[in-house]
Amino acid sequence: MSKNKFLDLIEKQRKEKKREKFKGTFMEYLDLIEKNPDSADLAHRRLYKSIVEKGTRKIEESDPRYTSFFQKENTNIYDYFADYFFGNEKVISKFMRYLKSASAKGEESRQVLLLMGPVGAGKSALVDHIKRSMESKPVYAIEGCPINEEPLHLLPRSLRSKFEDILGVKIEGDLCPVCRHRLMEEYNGQYEKMGVVEKSISIRGRTGIAVVPPVDANTQDTSMLIGVQDISKLDLYSEDDPRTLTLNGAFNKGNRGIVEFVEVFKNEIEFLHTIITATQEKAVPSPGSNAMIYFDGVILSHCNEAEWNRFKSEHTNEAILDRIVKIDVPYSLEVDQEIKIYQKMIGMSDFRDVHIAPHTLKIAAMFAVISRMEESQKCDLVTKMKIYNGEEVIERGRVKKIDVKDLRDEFEREGMGGISTRFIMKSIDAALSDSENETITPISMMKALINQVKDQITDNNFKSQCLDIIQKMVRDEYLKILENEIAKAFISAYEEQARSIFESYLDNAEAFTTNNTVRNRITKEERKPDERFMKSIESAIGITGAARDGFRSDVTAYMFAKMRKGENVDYTSYAPLKDAIEAYLISSVKDIARIVTKSKTRDDDQKKRYSEMMRVLIEDYGYNENSAEEVITYASNNIWRDS
Ligand SMILES: Nc1ncnc2c1ncn2[C@@H]1O[C@H](COP(=O)(O)OP(=O)(O)O)[C@@H](O)[C@H]1O
Ligand SMILES: [Mg+2]
Repeated sequence: MSKNKFLDLIEKQRKEKKREKFKGTFMEYLDLIEKNPDSADLAHRRLYKSIVEKGTRKIEESDPRYTSFFQKENTNIYDYFADYFFGNEKVISKFMRYLKSASAKGEESRQVLLLMGPVGAGKSALVDHIKRSMESKPVYAIEGCPINEEPLHLLPRSLRSKFEDILGVKIEGDLCPVCRHRLMEEYNGQYEKMGVVEKSISIRGRTGIAVVPPVDANTQDTSMLIGVQDISKLDLYSEDDPRTLTLNGAFNKGNRGIVEFVEVFKNEIEFLHTIITATQEKAVPSPGSNAMIYFDGVILSHCNEAEWNRFKSEHTNEAILDRIVKIDVPYSLEVDQEIKIYQKMIGMSDFRDVHIAPHTLKIAAMFAVISRMEESQKCDLVTKMKIYNGEEVIERGRVKKIDVKDLRDEFEREGMGGISTRFIMKSIDAALSDSENETITPISMMKALINQVKDQITDNNFKSQCLDIIQKMVRDEYLKILENEIAKAFISAYEEQARSIFESYLDNAEAFTTNNTVRNRITKEERKPDERFMKSIESAIGITGAARDGFRSDVTAYMFAKMRKGENVDYTSYAPLKDAIEAYLISSVKDIARIVTKSKTRDDDQKKRYSEMMRVLIEDYGYNENSAEEVITYASNNIWRDS
């Protein structure tokens, strides 16, 4: 039974794979092109289309990132990248703009694209993803051609403009020496009889995609780029006979698609000249003594900033610089996007099943983002981080008004340095492998980050800066988040109490404002407003002295206005009062927190409330038993220390 199931799968796949690939004569190919001129697209356009066809959209103006990140520019978002890349939409959009004009055969098609940025900014990952978009796309090539060249090259120059009119395509490029030789020797010049085959672009098969890793000067040899002349064949053939050629260099294999140069400036200058020729003249030298060979491909390269600066400063490199379209690839400066990067990487790792407590990745992301930012006069780094992340920053009851564009424009290089994604992934890995119960928490994350900083960062200045960020800024932010969260979980265990505090505060405040007495809801007894009670609530959010009267009348006016409109009011209706009630209740959290560490004082009621709070943390907020205990203990030691 199961054997047949497997066999079925195998056969089914084999059948599907057998979608008929085109194989025919040049004449049949001309028919094909007449029906479908796109098949003769050049590499840049082929690549552009293969990305665009996956879908595009505009960033919506209602999206907070429209302002905080895109600076109100109507940027295109490409679906092909959207599930894998986060926070570098601007890089992608610049790249696509380059490709678009290159596909229109603009000057850009004769330029090398260079992605420049710090390690771990995603340059290699981007180029990989770009290459993959072309995979399994068909290209048509002269049968047997070592560089898979476009069959239209078979048409003699004198006939080309006529064919261009009929077919609706531009024909450029000359036949490679191998095909030219075969045309003459085997087909007697009758190109219409030569064969054409359909091939699939493939990274592993090195069809239409080639990668050139950096090589050291000693082993550097242009044969890596343009192939070799096989010396052993010189016994059989003359020196200019194309049958002596082995065209397996990167420009040969990557013809019709992409040639990638990894860390391009690690190569010797001589090596780079071939790249320039390939773009400028759309041709590469042939090994041996043959003519140049036409090349149609997208050249993608990447490097880091130090390499770029070194290269740029060399006077002799001007010609090459002129041929480069550089796109900066900075790190993300948005906490939420940075978190998505980690989530993606964890999802792909062996750690995808461990428990990651709430805010854990945020801790790492905050650290990374702050380490990448420049100090501004306009606000502190934590505020800047929040503004970049599209958050409203509230200070003393007001939304802080800082223009995100002003901040962004202040430092051009911001995001080109600081902590890398790889550094963070290493810390996450360390935290995970140190964990005893397959759990990581913000606390173990901070510990792991501190250890990594101490171990890995050699620059003492940067090291102490980093420790400062983690131990002060990130830690403080976390304590605020945690306090808020535990308070919320705690309040839901005290919902009833919050309600009754609210009612009684409102009764008292109204009586105070209208110079009346308060009637007890149960005993109907009339009493003067309870000054002590009101003060204890108000002081929880720092309202003292003369400000109290105003607060009381504000609350009363607000609530009664609502009630007159027939709306329900409860303790959450008026934000300042809600804050006050919660803060008032939170002072009791101290007791709960203490119970965790000093269990002898736990009575039944406290036990009940504690377990209710645990339940909320676990069921509503996504903690597990271990992580919830850990953060509560942390809070009790750091927020609600014995006072
Ligand atoms: N903006 C981003 N979106 C998604 N993943 C990213 C991003 N930046 C970096 N990464 C991930 O970080 C890792 C390191 O990136 P890599 O491409 O090797 O960097 P580089 O080549 O720039 O040194 C990769 O796994 C990559 O997927
Ligand atoms: Mg890389």
